[in-house]
Amino acid sequence: MSMLEAAHENDIELEGACEGSLACSTCHVIVMDVDYYNKLDDPTDEENDMLDLAFGLTETSRLGCQLIAEPQLDGIRLAIPSATRNFAVDGFVPKPH
Ligand code: FES
Repeated sequence: MSMLEAAHENDIELEGACEGSLACSTCHVIVMDVDYYNKLDDPTDEENDMLDLAFGLTETSRLGCQLIAEPQLDGIRLAIPSATRNFAVDGFVPKPH
């Protein structure tokens, strides 16, 4: 399960406009502890491209849809930025690819 899916299952408002297809940055999260950030696989070029568009990018920013829950991440703390950039127009309903 990704952190985006976990957020949605727990009624946490993390947008995820493209539903994990790496076409937005609305699932941007900030890893609060560098030790945990360093345990993560490096972001792909595609994730980095989307992160470049994220509002409030930090050194420990990642896309929540790309972070998969694994035992070694038990205890990770993520912050949700105060705003996101969403280029979709009002009424847009994303469809799975
Ligand atoms: Fe769009 Fe993660 S939900 S990139």
